Amino acid sequence: MTWSPYYTGDGVPRDVELAPPPPWRTFPRRAMAKEFQPPAGLVESVNAALHLRRPLLLTGPAGSGKSTVIEQVASELKLGGVLRWHITSRSTLTDALYRYDALGRIHAQRLGQSGGVDNIAPFMQLGPLGTALLPSDQPNALLIDEVDKSDLDLPSDLLDVLERGEFEIPELARYQEDVVSVRQWGGDEHHDIERGRVRCTQFPFIVMTSNGERDFPAAFLRRCIRYTMQPPTVSLLRQMIMAHLQIDIEDGGPVQDLVEEFVARVDGGDSLAIDQLLNAVHVMSGTTVPGDGRRQYVVELLMRELSRA
Ligand SMILES: Nc1ncnc2c1ncn2[C@@H]1O[C@H](COP(=O)(O)OP(=O)(O)O)[C@@H](O)[C@H]1O
Ligand SMILES: [Mg+2]
Repeated sequence: MTWSPYYTGDGVPRDVELAPPPPWRTFPRRAMAKEFQPPAGLVESVNAALHLRRPLLLTGPAGSGKSTVIEQVASELKLGGVLRWHITSRSTLTDALYRYDALGRIHAQRLGQSGGVDNIAPFMQLGPLGTALLPSDQPNALLIDEVDKSDLDLPSDLLDVLERGEFEIPELARYQEDVVSVRQWGGDEHHDIERGRVRCTQFPFIVMTSNGERDFPAAFLRRCIRYTMQPPTVSLLRQMIMAHLQIDIEDGGPVQDLVEEFVARVDGGDSLAIDQLLNAVHVMSGTTVPGDGRRQYVVELLMRELSRA
C-alpha cells in the first residue's frame, strides 16, 4: 500500500500506521549499488579515473545520479564504505583533512580530567579527505559532493594536496609523542600517525560532483577526468524503475506513460530529477493509488519543475 489518506484535515486525533517507505527512503540508508544504471559513457570515465589515478568530476543537473555513482563503484570494487565530504561555501581544506579541538584540550587540562597527563589524541579526528589519504592496500572511496558550492580557492588548494597525496598535521608534528593514534572519519577506527605525516600508498578513488554553478580553472580541470551526466532515455529509466521498485512495466500502462512524459519534458528543457519520477511511480504503482480525481493532481505535485519553487 503506498497511498492512504492519513491526514484529512479534520483535526481529529487517530492512530495511523504508515505503509512501508519507498526502498530508497528506508533507514539506516543502504548504498544504491545494485539499483544504479550507468548512463552511456560513464563506465569508461570511471575506468579512466581508476587507471590514471585521477579524480572523476561529474557534472549534471540535480537528481541526475552524480552522488550515487560512487556507491556502485565502491561496492563493485570492494573499496569499503564511501567517505563523504559535502561542500558548502564555509568548507575549508583543513576541516576535510583533520579537526582539532584545541579548546577542549585546554579545558581537560584545567579540569585535571586527564589525570595530569596531557593527551592530544581524544581532541583530534581525521576528516573525510584525511581518512581517504591514509595508507591502504586498496584505494579508499571519497565523494567530494557539490564542489561548485565551495569558496573560490578551495579547488586549487585541494588539487595541491591531491597532487602530493600527503599532508602534515602541524599539531602532531611538534607533539611530544612520535606516534599518535587518531580517530578516522565515519567510525571509531583509529590509525597510528607518525610525526604528524599522512601519506597515501594508493591514490583514493575520488568522485567530485558539480551542478555546473560555476567554472573551474583549467589547471583544475586538466587534473580530473570529466564526465557530464547524460539525459536519461526511456529504456534506461525503465531499467532504473525496475531495479529500484522490482516491478514490471506494462507497455502502454500508466508507468510507461509517466516515463515517456518525463523524457519528453526533459528533452523540452524542463528541469526534473530522476527521483521525482521514482516517487511518482512509487505512488502510482502501489496496491492503493490515489482515486481518479486526485491522481492527476498528485502526479503534478510530484513532477513539478525544479527551476521554479
Ligand atoms: N542512473 C540511475 N540509476 C538508478 N537510479 C538513479 C540513477 N540516477 C539517479 N538515480 C536515483 O535518483 C536519486 C537522485 O540521485 P543523486 O545521485 O542524489 O543525484 P544528484 O547527486 O545528481 O543530485 C537517487 O535516489 C538515485 O538512486
Ligand atoms: Mg548529489
